[in-house]
Amino acid sequence: MPPWALDRHPQPLFTERLILQPLGPEHAPALFAALRDPAVYDFIPERPPTAVVDLEARYRRTSAGPPDDAERWWNWAVAGRDQPETPFGTVETSISRNARRAVMGYVFGSAAWGRSWAFEACSAVLVYLHAHVPGTPVEAFIDTRNVRSVALAERLGFERVETLVGADYIKGVVSDEYRYRLAAAGSAGVRSAKARSASRSSR
Ligand SMILES: CC(C)(COP(=O)(O)OP(=O)(O)OC[C@H]1O[C@@H](n2cnc3c(N)ncnc32)[C@H](O)[C@@H]1OP(=O)(O)O)[C@@H](O)C(=O)NCCC(=O)NCCS
Repeated sequence: MPPWALDRHPQPLFTERLILQPLGPEHAPALFAALRDPAVYDFIPERPPTAVVDLEARYRRTSAGPPDDAERWWNWAVAGRDQPETPFGTVETSISRNARRAVMGYVFGSAAWGRSWAFEACSAVLVYLHAHVPGTPVEAFIDTRNVRSVALAERLGFERVETLVGADYIKGVVSDEYRYRLAAAGSAGVRSAKARSASRSSR
């Protein structure tokens, strides 16, 4: 198979209120402050970072990209346009050429919840995926108890396609996951997410 022509690194993205910068080690100090909040980890297997250097090492590794040319990791640090140096969340995507799908994850500090910032950031990422890997379905795996994330995925146009019983083990408890799917970046779901994002931004 010839080398994949797809860019190894994503571009910065701008929305009405937010800036999404390709995630790198330089974002670790601000994201450490936002993401050491234990509430963030109620429904995901990770635990809060215990040191900036750990987060820095993680972002250095992920920003170098996967070793496999048939994959791309396109991850962004999300900040307010007015405070671009203080990101409060991330949107991470992993795109597989062979599986012909992208998987999306998102994590925001709880101080950033309830403002539709995650929705605005994810909408921009979906539009970007649509432009760069058109026709590729996007999936998200969500703990069935994670009502905020379920609401977000559904507002973005994702559809619940499967319940994976006992899919994970979170903080000592076996948990079930929903698999959500946006049939193809560029489907009606993305277009309506784009439209909703535009209408929310103009409020
Ligand atoms: C999942 C997560 C990103 C969702 O964040 P969120 O802020 O609830 O999601 P949204 O961006 O869709 O915002 C929705 C909220 O903004 C509010 N909102 C909507 N439009 C708004 C606007 N224009 N202005 C202000 N607030 C608005 C909504 O009322 C809703 O708030 P509510 O739930 O308190 O009623 C966040 O809970 C999180 O990071 N959780 C921890 C990590 C995690 O579980 N990740 C998912 C793994 S699958």
